[in-house]
Amino acid sequence: MSTSVQEREARNILQVYRRMPAVFDRGEGTRVFTSEGRSYLDFISGIGVASLGHGHKDLADAIAAQAQTLLHTSNLFFHPLQTEVAAILADRTGLDRAFFCNSGSEAVETCLKFARRYWFTQGSTGRTKYVAFRHAFHGRTMGALSVTWDDHYRAPFAPLIPNVMFADPDDITGFEALVDDTTAAIIVEPIQGEGGVRPISAAMASAIEGACARTGALLIADEVQSGSGRTGPFLYSRTLGLTPDLVALGKALGAGVPIGVAMFSNAVAASASPGDHGSTYGGNLLACRAALVFLEALASPTLTASMLAASERLFSGLRSMQERVPTIRDVRGAGLMVGIELTVDAAPVVAAAFERGLLINRTGATVVRLLPPYIITLADVDAALPLLEDALVAAGGSGQ
Ligand SMILES: Cc1ncc(COP(=O)(O)O)c(C=O)c1O
Repeated sequence: MSTSVQEREARNILQVYRRMPAVFDRGEGTRVFTSEGRSYLDFISGIGVASLGHGHKDLADAIAAQAQTLLHTSNLFFHPLQTEVAAILADRTGLDRAFFCNSGSEAVETCLKFARRYWFTQGSTGRTKYVAFRHAFHGRTMGALSVTWDDHYRAPFAPLIPNVMFADPDDITGFEALVDDTTAAIIVEPIQGEGGVRPISAAMASAIEGACARTGALLIADEVQSGSGRTGPFLYSRTLGLTPDLVALGKALGAGVPIGVAMFSNAVAASASPGDHGSTYGGNLLACRAALVFLEALASPTLTASMLAASERLFSGLRSMQERVPTIRDVRGAGLMVGIELTVDAAPVVAAAFERGLLINRTGATVVRLLPPYIITLADVDAALPLLEDALVAAGGSGQ
């Protein structure tokens, strides 16, 4: 790896990332290549973002054409591509209106703000509580951080916004006790991503629906990681029978171009007035063009069928690996959002996989996470599984 990049990064970049020692300068499909020409099979896709893989021809052509036509006009003017994306998202999510922003955190902020705006409009100004979950991760801006659970992220930035309570996702009685008629909203990741790829249980999902019905609290589903088709259906909320009033989207939706979207039910959207919220870049022509290419690709039955086949092969391969590798405690997730919980620290496994040409990452201390591009083939899965098993063994994953 070029030491000059590392040296300059150490000098001029805010030191908030622990980076793997690689500089990638090219990608093709499910592979990325370093400046020295080393090839890596990408099973993390830039943390769930490069949904169409790398160097995708239609995406690249559409972005280039858009750049030559018009990139940005702001939200001072009407916007043809936003309305196209919004109409598709309304159809796919069952929620009526979209607010466009630039990241998952911003989408979460928007949902949090408008949950309060809704109750303010109703005259319930005391209804400000948010109920979130242990292990939740919703982003690092002040509002999103306030509903993020891990104290490691929170403590240095206190005080955060008040009136946030955290429920244990496995304790239904405790959760129900927290939700009352001062609760503005419950916020949940249907599959907790950063917290260790933990799907919310069907029992908790039905308790959430029950609590919303009992108290009128709004439901915010943070589907930044689990949404946009990553698990099969467009929203994992639907798999769980959740009916959110607000949904946060991001990551895979832009296929590599930054975009975030908050989807609103008409009832919540009715509380919004001009000036309540906004974004300079939000939903600009470039981001919406990329989202349209992604949404069109996702509508292809060929892609959804190959995602399903790849997911089945991946899960069955991991389950049989679990029988051979004693440090695999659990394999969980859905579709192409996979967590492998280990009995040991996952960091050496990630490093060993990297040495073998496979990109994965760690979430929580002991969970290996896979978020491959949606375009992975059975051959990619067959190539990745032995590399992963070898990495687990090399990192102390066998015979212990
Ligand atoms: C569930 C969830 N919500 C919100 C975010 C924040 O998204 P971003 O990093 O795009 O701001 C993330 C990022 O990992 C996420 O996984």
